[in-house]
Amino acid sequence: MDLRKTLSELGQEHLLDNIDSLSEADRLQLEKEIASQDFNLLNHLFKEHSSTPVISTEDEILPLTFDLAENNIKQAMWEETGFLLLEKGQVAAFLVAGGQGSRLGFEGPKGAYNIGLPSGKSLFQIQAERISNLSSRSGHPIPWCIMTSPLNHEDTIAHFEENHYFGLPRDYIRFFSQGTMCALDPNGKAIKSSPEHLALVPDGNGGCFRALAQSGTLAWLIEKGVRFVFLYSVDNVLVRIADPAFVGALASDGRALSSSKVVRKKHPQEKVGVFAVKNKKPSVIEYSDLPDALRLETYPDGTPLFDGANIAIHLFRIEALKKLQSTPLPWHSAKKTVFGVANAWKFEQFLFDAFPLLGSMTLYGVSREDEFAPVKNADGDDSPKSARLMLGMLHKYWLQQAGVTVESRKLYEISPTISYGGESLSQAVFDRELGKNILAFDP
Ligand code: UTP
Repeated sequence: MDLRKTLSELGQEHLLDNIDSLSEADRLQLEKEIASQDFNLLNHLFKEHSSTPVISTEDEILPLTFDLAENNIKQAMWEETGFLLLEKGQVAAFLVAGGQGSRLGFEGPKGAYNIGLPSGKSLFQIQAERISNLSSRSGHPIPWCIMTSPLNHEDTIAHFEENHYFGLPRDYIRFFSQGTMCALDPNGKAIKSSPEHLALVPDGNGGCFRALAQSGTLAWLIEKGVRFVFLYSVDNVLVRIADPAFVGALASDGRALSSSKVVRKKHPQEKVGVFAVKNKKPSVIEYSDLPDALRLETYPDGTPLFDGANIAIHLFRIEALKKLQSTPLPWHSAKKTVFGVANAWKFEQFLFDAFPLLGSMTLYGVSREDEFAPVKNADGDDSPKSARLMLGMLHKYWLQQAGVTVESRKLYEISPTISYGGESLSQAVFDRELGKNILAFDP
């Protein structure tokens, strides 16, 4: 059917204004971008956007409880099980790195950012080295799926190429781009960012399930015999990718389709999403959606009921990912200035909306100091500086636990190539590696 007619039926005919003044290449570009969009869905989302509150008084919201995994006597068994699965090549890593990192204000892909550790490593390099450590210990490469967005796809691949894929086998890394949604103006009209481009915004980290399937990456994982997929965000400098104990814990649970790592909230007002059971389904409730009464509710011993913070570290059984490729996640809308248009609408999906759809999950409690130091802001909380300090303190603690004499005023950075989680350290290793794979720095 004629494109103009189709767009006019959808109320988006203005997108073709001035198309005749475009060069052939620009016209094709514009047509390609128009074809990438589902305007029926966009129009529907525009009409629906302001309707239902996320939590209503009818909803039943109960806590989803958890214990610290390290206190569980099964921890050693879980780790062993996880290593067996890694040895068989049944565990993959899935990084969602399609975000724009606007709060950090770094121009390139966030993973290429150097947080200022003495090694100067980028977030991608730290992750690659953790993967490399586990691969060599288990004797099997770990497939690594990396979701980008059209805005950072080329730059992400260029960063890996320049760094020779950090020594990882190229055929075990797969890059693919997530989808986009065109931003709409306050009247529901699709916005253009230039005469030949639509105002395309990444469709949220929840777009990862669709992108994994549509890019052929889910099939690639299935062909490789992968059964567990470790899904994580780009900016947590302490992330224990494909953590064997975490994998083993889910594998030993006959019922759950997924598991999520969780830390205790710092205080009831900490601005993080919390795990809960909403209308009998496991869910994450965003900070702003949790009513004050629930946020402040405590057990008799004073512990908050809704205490489990989502740190965006998840593990999915492959069956869960198969299910999610055909089970649509809900859309969220936000009013923002997009390409200079004030009060524009953008639409996104959130990864954590997968949990109610899957219906059964477990939580795996960890301590923040060991596993969660995100780089979100340029300064202050969750910044490169706070992440550097947390990593430096943790690695110093590992050395102390291994009986190493450390300098009290220094912090340390240990390369993941010699230790993934504090193992294989000793005074002899320290003496040999100081200045090489172990670097001291000032707080
Ligand atoms: P954040 O919500 O922290 O967003 O993403 P961000 O884009 O990194 O940073 P800001 O909000 O613009 O400052 C959490 C994780 O989800 C990924 C991010 O790359 C990060 O790993 N993400 C986010 C996607 O993969 N796609 C998206 O559309 C949004």
